[in-house]
Amino acid sequence: MSERKRTQRTKRQTEKWKREFVRQRQIQRQIKDSAPDILQSGNFRRTRQHIQHGDVTVNEHVWNVARHSVEFCDRLHIPCRKEELIRGALLHDYFLYDWHQPHKTNPFKLHGFFHPGIALKNAAEEYDLTDRERDIIKKHMWPLTVIPPTCREAWIVTAADKYCSLMETMHFYKGHGVWRQTPEGK
Ligand SMILES: [Fe+2]
Ligand SMILES: [Fe+2]
Repeated sequence: MSERKRTQRTKRQTEKWKREFVRQRQIQRQIKDSAPDILQSGNFRRTRQHIQHGDVTVNEHVWNVARHSVEFCDRLHIPCRKEELIRGALLHDYFLYDWHQPHKTNPFKLHGFFHPGIALKNAAEEYDLTDRERDIIKKHMWPLTVIPPTCREAWIVTAADKYCSLMETMHFYKGHGVWRQTPEGK
């Protein structure tokens, strides 16, 4: 490859990274603007203490899901209520315990089936949820939880959640979580 072609290719790559960087910053800003109350709350910050998949914490996981939900929406040009999509994505795993350990809300280790209901209860105690946000939280584990989502925002978060969970479990997405034994899953 000639020197000129190599230079052009490097320039194109740099431009592509720059565009991607700007796009990610815009998504980050959208998320922060849509949910300042959630992001600053003590309970939401506490989700940094618990691992979700691999070494990714629950906090990092819900951020991943919110980012990907916005990306799916933008790339596929799906019209949707962005603010509700983001808030639902951030709260979809708001169960607030370590699901890898026995816990009074998870005595039979059937976390996959029960945590959407627990997350919804916790979120509803702290926030005025819209019907869409409720649907996102309650149905995100479909088809494990039999009733399918009834709005496109919930379908998008359900898809983003599955994608992110796979990437995190396969260690394609890295996190900053550290495994620690916590009493009673607290
Ligand atoms: Fe979940
Ligand atoms: Fe999730």
